[in-house]
Parts: sequence; C-alpha cells; structure tokens
Amino acid sequence: MSDRWSDVDDYLVDRLLPDDEVLAAALAASDAAGLRSINVTPPQGRFLNLLARILGARRILEVGTLGGYSTIWLARALPPDGRLVTLEIDPATAEVARSNLARAGLAEVAEVRVGRALDLLPDLAGDPSYDLVFIDADKPSNPDYLQWALRLTRPGSVIVVDNVVRDGAVADVASDDPMVLGTRRMMDLIAAEPRLDATALQTVGAKGYDGFLLALVTS
Ligand SMILES: C[S@@+](CC[C@H](N)C(=O)[O-])C[C@H]1O[C@@H](n2cnc3c(N)ncnc32)[C@H](O)[C@@H]1O
Repeated sequence: MSDRWSDVDDYLVDRLLPDDEVLAAALAASDAAGLRSINVTPPQGRFLNLLARILGARRILEVGTLGGYSTIWLARALPPDGRLVTLEIDPATAEVARSNLARAGLAEVAEVRVGRALDLLPDLAGDPSYDLVFIDADKPSNPDYLQWALRLTRPGSVIVVDNVVRDGAVADVASDDPMVLGTRRMMDLIAAEPRLDATALQTVGAKGYDGFLLALVTS
C-alpha cells in the first residue's frame, strides 16, 4: 500500500501545492548536509501553514527543527511582525536550518535556538504566550513537551504533536519502545488534563502510516 500512499501524495502535491523553489532548495540543502529525511511531507507542511493562518497565529513555537522545512511552512504563515522560535539539539543541523531560513527570507522572523529542548524551554517562560506549538523532536520527551506547551500558551492556543500513531504501535499496550511509551504517557496526560480538548488523526502518505495530535487549550 505504501507505494499507493506515495502516489496519492504526489498527486495531491501536483494538484494542490504550487511549485516552491525555496522549499525544494531547503530539502536539497538538508539532503546535501546529510540530514535524515524525517521532515513533514509537503501536504503536512501545507496543513501546518494553513492551520497557523486560520488561527491568525502571531507567535509560533516549534520543538524539533531539523533542516527547517516545517519551520519555513510555519514561519510563512506569520505576519511581518510575527515571531517563530524553533529548538534544535544539534548545532550542525541548526546551521543548515538557519541557512535554509535565510534563503527563504525568514531569518528575521524565525529564530533557531540550539540545545536540548528541555533546557531551552524554561528560557521562554517569560515570553508572551505562543498561539501555536508544533512538537516534533525526541518522542520519549513528549510528556514534558506537552506540559511545557501548556505553560507557554493561553486559552485559544493550539498544540500539534507529530508522529503519534507510529505504524499503529501507539495502541500496543505491551510496547517497550521508548517512543511509543513517551507518546502513550503524553496521551494519558492529555486524557487527565481539563485544559485541553484534543483529537488525533491517523495519516498515510509518502512517509508511511502515522498520525498527528491536535489539541486546543481551553482554559
Ligand atoms: C523529526 S525531526 C524534525 C523535523 C522538522 N520538524 C520538519 O518536519 O522539518 C526532529 C528533530 O529534533 C531534534 N531533536 C531531537 N532531540 C532533541 C532534543 N532533546 N531537543 C531539541 N531537539 C531535538 C533532532 O535533532 C531533529 O532535528
């Protein structure tokens, strides 16, 4: 089936997404720098961009930058005085992202901070609240990232978490995969959190079978 999913992604990109030299260049530069191809797909990137625009987001936080592919999609949704902060643990990877963001004309809007996200997040506590948080880094830390996202947002903000289905493994109660365990613990936190209304959608596409979580901060 996965060939079919890729074919459909190609078709959707062909019909719905305009050719984009800047995004293509970002992926090519990430490839050339040896980064893993674990960025969101183009339809997913467009989804994040549309979501941020629908929300009228002015401040976006991303946890997990890689080469800045999703960062570009998100930062493009911001008004000229908007702000995006993205966190990346690996300095060389962050440099690739900075260069991709500069080529995209987004260096002024999007800031790449380098370090372990759990060390960097406390620095953001004094900032004005974020309208949208996209969590896409090390999955075992998802419960902590979720709690930080709640601290850094306000009622009306939206939190998106990528890769929450993991080929269906998220439903496996016997899994000892740290990425599945992190995701399941995050789900437990959300289930017990009265300030969040959440759902998750299963997805298939060029990157296989997975899914994302969408949560609205309600109070
Ligand atoms: C799935 S990739 C992000 C993909 C990117 N959001 C996109 O779609 O273009 C995850 C990134 O998180 C970074 N990362 C992993 N652990 C981290 C941590 N503890 N703190 C910050 N970044 C981390 C990895 O180096 C990697 O670049």
